[in-house]
Amino acid sequence: MTARPLPGTDLALTPVGLGCWALGGLWWGKPVDEATAIDTVCAAIDCGINWVDTAPLYGHGRADELLVRALGRRLRDIVVATKVGVRWDGSGAHARSDLRPAYVVADVEASLRRLNLDRIDLLQVHWPCESGTPIADTVAALVQMQAAGKVRHFGVCNYDAPGLCDVAAAGPVAVLQTPYSLLRREFEGALLASTRALPGRSDPLGVVVYEPLCRGLLTGKFNATARFGDDDLRARDDRFAGPRFLRALTVTSRLQLVARRLGVPVAALAIAWTARRPGITAAIAGAKSRDQVACNAQAMALCDRDDLPWAEIDRIADSYRG
Ligand SMILES: NC(=O)c1ccc[n+]([C@@H]2O[C@H](COP(=O)([O-])OP(=O)(O)OC[C@H]3O[C@@H](n4cnc5c(N)ncnc54)[C@H](OP(=O)(O)O)[C@@H]3O)[C@@H](O)[C@H]2O)c1
Repeated sequence: MTARPLPGTDLALTPVGLGCWALGGLWWGKPVDEATAIDTVCAAIDCGINWVDTAPLYGHGRADELLVRALGRRLRDIVVATKVGVRWDGSGAHARSDLRPAYVVADVEASLRRLNLDRIDLLQVHWPCESGTPIADTVAALVQMQAAGKVRHFGVCNYDAPGLCDVAAAGPVAVLQTPYSLLRREFEGALLASTRALPGRSDPLGVVVYEPLCRGLLTGKFNATARFGDDDLRARDDRFAGPRFLRALTVTSRLQLVARRLGVPVAALAIAWTARRPGITAAIAGAKSRDQVACNAQAMALCDRDDLPWAEIDRIADSYRG
């Protein structure tokens, strides 16, 4: 599987990465049992996926621990992307950003210990600061950790265009992580344009996108009667309720018709559409089982195929009014 260079870095990412949020076990309904989680991670590697996206927040460390249990020292053979700068209060409910340099350093050290690594390949600020820490202070701490060899490259998640420009002015940002799918396309506006014209960069910024399946909606497995338990974040996601949900189901069923005609899983087609859009380096797809990851990994072979009816899928995506 051809990996794509992450511009301006020595990293190359397969067009699909494994997202580890749901494997961590919080807010995604019934937790994935340990054996299944480990099998899911191993399946991702078996399918040719060469990178994982995790975070201290995912299961409050459990996702990291599962990665180590699954891969042991083989974790060093793939690209590990993780995050920094979110605290939780221990009760499991509340999380908030903390981008003060001292916390950033402590958070990275804790990730290195949990992941049993000497260096993090790709460290991403999880959320923009909510408490007034100047971004230049945070970036200075990240640059220091890079100089100390503890972080290979750093980036940010969930920043808007002006915020991203501020980050780039403060230091050598290597990646933006942002939401993007057939059902969520705000990235295509000012944010995409800003990744191509950042201060201090001649090449476009690499972009990795999350929720390419819109939290499972684009797999085609839900219908209008779908209900989620209180422990599932989709119970509070208005994309899964009312007229918005019905409109998304219509888009999904139209995509499903195309997928059936091609003989490919609709989930793989949805991820592939995302991974081949302008400006995108790779998509991060979450999975809770070997079967899900094997299905999603098929997107890697699809996204390079110019013979597929992408224009038809563009029209389906364009028909959606969120
Ligand atoms: N930086 C950030 O702030 C941020 C935010 C969100 C996500 N992320 C990252 O991006 C990753 C992906 O996003 P996401 O997990 O939220 O959404 P997603 O990839 O759109 O959806 C993942 C979920 O869809 C279902 N699913 C996946 N593949 C399937 C298949 N082939 N067939 C049927 N169901 C399938 C699974 O849940 P069920 O089986 O329960 O339906 C899975 O947990 C995360 O794991 C995380 O690494 C980052």
